[in-house]
Amino acid sequence: MDIRNKPDLKQARRRSKQPIITKEYQSNPTIQNLGVGKKFLIQTHGCQANEADSEILKAMILEQGFTQTDKVEDADLILINTCAVRETAENKVFGELGRLKSLKKINPDMILVVAGCMSQEEATVERILTKYKHVDIVLGTHNIPEFTNYLNYVMVEKKKMIEVVSEEGTIFEHLPKARDSRFKAWVNIMYGCDEFCTYCIVPYTRGKERSRRKEYIIKEVKTLVEMGYQEITLLGQNVNSYGLDFEGEDYSFADLLRDLSDLKIPRIRFTTSHPKDFSDDLIDVIALRENVMPHIHLPVQSGSNPVLKKMNRKYTKEQYLDLVDRIYKKIPDASITTDIIVGFPTETEADFQETMDLVRQAKFEGAYTFVYSPRKGTPAAKYETTVTNQEAKGRLYRLNELVNEGYLQGNIRFKDKIVKVLVEGLSKTKDNVFSGYTEHNKLVNVKCTEASVGKIIPVKITKVKTWSLDGEPVEENK
Ligand code: SAH
Ligand code: SF4
Ligand code: F3S
Repeated sequence: MDIRNKPDLKQARRRSKQPIITKEYQSNPTIQNLGVGKKFLIQTHGCQANEADSEILKAMILEQGFTQTDKVEDADLILINTCAVRETAENKVFGELGRLKSLKKINPDMILVVAGCMSQEEATVERILTKYKHVDIVLGTHNIPEFTNYLNYVMVEKKKMIEVVSEEGTIFEHLPKARDSRFKAWVNIMYGCDEFCTYCIVPYTRGKERSRRKEYIIKEVKTLVEMGYQEITLLGQNVNSYGLDFEGEDYSFADLLRDLSDLKIPRIRFTTSHPKDFSDDLIDVIALRENVMPHIHLPVQSGSNPVLKKMNRKYTKEQYLDLVDRIYKKIPDASITTDIIVGFPTETEADFQETMDLVRQAKFEGAYTFVYSPRKGTPAAKYETTVTNQEAKGRLYRLNELVNEGYLQGNIRFKDKIVKVLVEGLSKTKDNVFSGYTEHNKLVNVKCTEASVGKIIPVKITKVKTWSLDGEPVEENK
């Protein structure tokens, strides 16, 4: 095992005043055809940041001549892009690594790569070194651009290697991308996170918050428009703080949205917004620009002020509800969704009731709900907990009942209405039915034809369910 660099959470916590460096990626011309006649498979866990990274890694793999397979038994290269946000996510990966051990015995030349946020954790790397020695490459989130070099090294030298750097991070432009969709694209606008919510590992695994220069983003979106893309989703852990790191320049997320909206891409989405920097200017842009979608994912995490304070979220329940109010005033049909954690170490039943009350008042149309999972290296992992596992699960259950009611109410308002659906492909559950999403991000099953795939079509909603809508295409009379 060639251990070049191991993760270091202490170092990953550091934030210096060093300016952010942008580098332009260039592939190494001496490495070619590593994968001719070979097959690969990528498994992606976690958030959209990982999905976007997987599209880069996939492009690098395709450049070497590998072809894609969906069967692990056929793969000569398996890359697992991991998520460290909760223990359950990590257990899934360790389970998969365990299963792949026997496959590696049958096919010793198969190359197994662990990439993503788990690689940035000291504990993961130690566990791989002791129990999962069949892993060939451990690659961190900051050195993705080096992946082809590592692959070449491992394939030629027949060695295993670990390279994970815990730096604050550089921005790489001109990275290759093999996008999974022909009409929907992820566009990173920033990397990293400086919020340090006390429960969260992301600031350690993704480094310092750093915004991409607007010129590069605009150029990327212009190219997507030319290629016929219908929808872009702007990505960042906290898109509202976009540009705050530009020195001597006053260019905000709202300004970026205005500039991108001018490029006439039919749909712009963004995720995620931290409530603390959601400006009125931003609300205005969403309200006024037709191609900026009226769906806002606005993680609240808790409705209790003492818990929010312990979480280091930097807003109160009242401030959050006031923001939601201002959004509904200017965008009356806005669909707001959220993330909520239950069972945070200090959360009492009364705190939990504050969360339930906030959910009722905010009229969320959806929420990702989680039981708190301690993450080694974060401040909250050291807090003494007063919540039993059973209590946390009970809270999650009660919360989900309420949240599901919000999903249903959010769908009911579209009954008999005509909505615009970007048709993505055949529905996963029914034959001869296609599915796609509305402007408000509602899943719709439509009886249309293959010809509508990749297009935005008007659909009349005929049936409403909790998780989806059914509809029929309507002729436009224009
Ligand atoms: N940057 C995004 C969220 C990234 S993580 C934001 O702040 O909105 C996605 C979600 O996972 C978080 O919103 C939070 O609800 C949840 N999460 C993060 N750390 C967690 C932990 N330790 N235990 C349980 N849920 C967690
Ligand atoms: Fe984690 Fe908070 Fe940053 Fe989101 S804003 S990634 S929850 S630290
Ligand atoms: Fe998971 Fe990393 Fe995203 S921890 S949620 S994949 S930033």
